[in-house]
Order: sequence, then C-alpha cells, then structure tokens
Amino acid sequence: MVRIGDQRAIWLDDDGWGVRVIDQRALPHAFRVLRLETAAEAAGAIREMAVRGAPLIGATGAYGVALAARADPADHALSDAENLLKDARPTGANLAWAVDRVIGAVGDLPPPRRAAAAYAEAARICEEDVAINRAIGEHGAELIAAAGERAGGRQPVEVLTHCNTGWLATTGRGTALAAVYEAAERGIQLHVWVTETRPREQGAGLTAWELGQAGVPFTVIVDGAAGHLLQRRRVDLVIVGTDRTSAAGDVANKIGTYPLALAARASEIPFYVAVPSPSIDWTIADGLAIPIEERDPAEVAAVSGLAPSGHVESVRLVPEGAPAANWAFDVTPAGLVSGLITERGVARATRSGLGALFPEKTPAGARIQA
Ligand code: MRU
Repeated sequence: MVRIGDQRAIWLDDDGWGVRVIDQRALPHAFRVLRLETAAEAAGAIREMAVRGAPLIGATGAYGVALAARADPADHALSDAENLLKDARPTGANLAWAVDRVIGAVGDLPPPRRAAAAYAEAARICEEDVAINRAIGEHGAELIAAAGERAGGRQPVEVLTHCNTGWLATTGRGTALAAVYEAAERGIQLHVWVTETRPREQGAGLTAWELGQAGVPFTVIVDGAAGHLLQRRRVDLVIVGTDRTSAAGDVANKIGTYPLALAARASEIPFYVAVPSPSIDWTIADGLAIPIEERDPAEVAAVSGLAPSGHVESVRLVPEGAPAANWAFDVTPAGLVSGLITERGVARATRSGLGALFPEKTPAGARIQA
C-alpha cells in the first residue's frame, strides 16, 4: 500500500509565489496541474471546482489573498480580493474563515510587508490542516476498530463514505478518508463502499482514484444503493465529511448525506462525521440557516466520462430542455449523527458536546444547553 501523506493538493511553485493545484476536474482520467497567479484565478479555480473540498478551498482562498497582496497590497485591493474569494462558493465555512484569517494577519502591517506575511499565514493554515487531518485520522481509526470489534472481529470492516474527503480535499491526508488510511496502516482489514456522488462524481472519480492508489479495497455504488446496503447490514459504519457544521452539530455536507444518515439511523448503523474545527461555524445555531449552494443544472442534465475514443466527453441524459435543479449540499440534523470526529476527539453532536472540546469557542452559558 502506498503510504498516504506525501501527496499534496496545493503547493507553492519553485519561484516561491505561484500557487500550484491539481486540476480535479481532469481526474481520474488525466493528471493536470494548474498554476494560479492572481486572486481572480484562485477564485475561479474554487468556483469551477478545479479545487474542491472545504479545507482545500480554504487553503486556496488563503493563498488567493497572498497573490492579491503580492500584486497590490493596498487596502482597497485586498478588500476586493476578499469579496471575490469569499463569493466563490457559499456553503463551506473554511473559505471565509481562511480569507479572514489572512486578511486579519496582514491588515495592520504597512503595505510593503503584507505579501510576505500573507504567504506565511497561508502556509500556517495549510500546516495546521495537516496536523488536524492526522489527528482526525487517529480518532476515526479508533471508531473503525471499535466497529470491527462490535462485528465480532469479522474482517474486513465495512465502511461507507460519500463524496471525497481524502488528500485531494484538504492540504494533508484528508478527514473521513484519513480515518480509513490510518486504520489500514494499523493493519485493520477494510472495505469501503464509495457512493458515486452525482452529479460531480467525487466518489466515483476521486475517492475511487485515491483508494486505488492507496491499495485500500473499495467498491463504487450508485448513490441510491446506499440504503439497500445499510438495510441489509452490509455496512459497519458510515463516515463522511462536512463543509460547515453548526454550533449545535448539524452537518452541511455533499447532497445525499442527509438520506444516508436517515437510512443509517433506520438500520441502527453508526453515522460519523469528520469535522476539522475550521469547518465549525460557531455563529450558526441551526443548520438550516447554512447557505446551500445551487450550481448550474447542466451538471445534472449531463454526465462526462472517458469515451472509447480516449477523449473525455459529456453526454446529455435528459430530454432536450428538461428542467433540472442542482443543490450541491444538504443538512443532516445533529440528532442523526452518532459523533463528530474532531482533531480534539470525538464529540457528541450537540452544542455541549462540541463546547466541551472547544471551550474557548463557546460562551460558558451557552454550553449548558444541548
Ligand atoms: O462540492 P465539493 O466536492 O467541494 O464537496 C466536498 C464535500 O462535500 C466534502 O465532504 C467536504 O468538503 C469535506 S472534505 C474534507
């Protein structure tokens, strides 16, 4: 098995200022690397999903501010870049968090010193994410081991995941998939059910690619098959990621996560969410207040894939002109979540559960109710 940990989805180019990212739109059929040179290019890469996954989007936003500061460190230029970047995708918490953090780190400095400080802060955000990923992986691996024990030691342990939460989605080894990698490295035999994740196919295209490279056994299923597998108890636990989690533990994640959680609850199968702390929005009490991105319906109306010609082609699925709608995320209420796997440990999906692990984020009074 390839050890996961050396690959990076974002890095600085040899000249020390251009930002390199893997163009995830090309995977798994081609491996392409983009060079971002402006905040507008960083925002475009986020919007068009060349980069995706909440933590990686945050890191790209952070470097987007650094690129802006390099081009023009004046207040008005940074403010324009801030707005442009934050508007690129609305649901994930990490983007605004990271942009604010870099702006906050440079705002009081004289303009000539801002670019270097912005690059340094963006690099710190990435390194912190690497450590967060590692810790989430370790806590998550314990849950996978426990699920195996509950199954009477039967191996492989059957994990189901949705979308892509691996090293492509973060700056380290991932969140939910980091738990899978860590468990595999500990010698636990695993098999992962990978939901296709229509319409952008992050499961079929990206998670399958990552797991294949890592040598972790997996099977791709259509999104609609998950309920069937859960009902037949062919899954020991579900682990997914999150784009934004409310202070009370409601989880916004890739569309289709909520029905997965409902089916898991109906079959009494544990449903865990890997939550890096920058994805927690402490200002939102009710998950239904999380803004849900709506993308171009054309993503639903067509699929693209590798044609026999060897070229990637897009084909229309629906009758010409058929209406389609494309919500990118849904919200799973905290009550359906068995636990939130954070870098500080596994929290109950309640305000007090999260508050116990992050007391500095929660006013003492608010922690009492959950
Ligand atoms: O639209 P995407 O591909 O950016 O959505 C990604 C997800 O929903 C992930 O589950 C989430 O960002 C967590 S990634 C560690």
